[in-house]
Amino acid sequence: MSSDQSGAAAGNAAPSLSMSAVSDNAADRFVQIVDVVKKFGESVAVKGVNLSVKKGELFALLGSSGCGKSTLLRMLAGLETVTSGKILIDGEDLAQLPPYRRPVNMMFQSYALFPHMNVEANVAFGLKQEGVPKAEIKDRVQNALDLVQMGRFAKRKPNQLSGGQQQRVALARSLVKRPKLLLLDEPMSALDKQIRQRTQIELVNILDKVGVTCMMVTHDQEEAMTMASRLAVMSEGEIIQLGTPHEVYEYPNTRFSAEFIGSTNLFDGHVVEDEPDHVFIDTPELPCRLYVNHGITGPLGMPVTISVRPERIALTRKPPEGAYNWGKGVVTNIAYMGGYSLYHVKLEAGKTVIANVTSLALTEIDTPTWGDEVYVRWSASAGVVLTS
Ligand SMILES: Nc1ncnc2c1ncn2[C@@H]1O[C@H](COP(=O)(O)OP(=O)(O)O)[C@@H](O)[C@H]1O
Ligand SMILES: [Mg+2]
Repeated sequence: MSSDQSGAAAGNAAPSLSMSAVSDNAADRFVQIVDVVKKFGESVAVKGVNLSVKKGELFALLGSSGCGKSTLLRMLAGLETVTSGKILIDGEDLAQLPPYRRPVNMMFQSYALFPHMNVEANVAFGLKQEGVPKAEIKDRVQNALDLVQMGRFAKRKPNQLSGGQQQRVALARSLVKRPKLLLLDEPMSALDKQIRQRTQIELVNILDKVGVTCMMVTHDQEEAMTMASRLAVMSEGEIIQLGTPHEVYEYPNTRFSAEFIGSTNLFDGHVVEDEPDHVFIDTPELPCRLYVNHGITGPLGMPVTISVRPERIALTRKPPEGAYNWGKGVVTNIAYMGGYSLYHVKLEAGKTVIANVTSLALTEIDTPTWGDEVYVRWSASAGVVLTS
């Protein structure tokens, strides 16, 4: 189920009339994916996706391998037809547009550069195909290469470039065509881990500068969090959650989302008190009740799961003073990460809790070590109630 019914639900095919008729609202629905289904024979790769992308934003589709991300992107590129539903870009129904009029460009995972052409010729290729005048091609290619800082490599062949440089050429080749919508399928997957992070930031800066609307696909949650203004978590052809990286991280709506984005501690229990501003949960996993400072909707006794992120959990040597949200256990593992450490604490009832504790906080409690008895605790605002 998509949680973004608001934008796409209207779903009418009204074409945009003129620039002056484009309201902020239309800019919020620059790309509209409406009830899109894709079947391959009997198997359903995309199961009724509704999604709107805003003009100028970098939107990420995030999910594990095989969940349908590339298929959705390929339908946006017009490389795959939709089985049902429709896709509108800037108010125009993609299915009604012949391929050469589709305002979309896709940069492939492999970059697909022509090996026998130099950088300049690779970037110019699409414009030549379109019959753009020579002088204009020269200018546009130059600008695109300058934008990705590859101007001085114009005469090189792809095999004389590093992976990161090839990616920038591929990007220049996509941008030179001035698409309304740029599609990136796993844009970092061919790069070494070390240069990936730097490239993520560079890419965001370039896209920002150009102002192009962009949809990217990735299975890497850190990449999606770093780059995207909003993201959709996908699983088995469906959108599980949609929001800003901050929203999805802080307020996951399902176990799937909570575990897929970052790591988390999950406590199972059932609701014993539900008020608008708080909820109490009985759990066999702690010696006390769970207390969360927001309400839920559901009957008393309803089974729920509480998600508490590792960085929200504090370690203490002494028993905590509060009556809720704590446990007692033994340190079973410590992963030293430099500025912080991940402590695994096995609670008396058997569950292992992971706490992400800063080095500073650790010195204040005399840095516990393996086998030490400690307490974990967290505040009422740390937990998120998950009902599915
Ligand atoms: N051309 C195709 N024919 C048959 N099945 C396909 C085809 N393309 C993709 N699929 C299937 O659709 C599902 C989603 O694939 P894909 O969109 O590539 O996933 P992702 O990009 O999220 O890894 C997979 O089960 C895949 O095997
Ligand atoms: Mg894919």
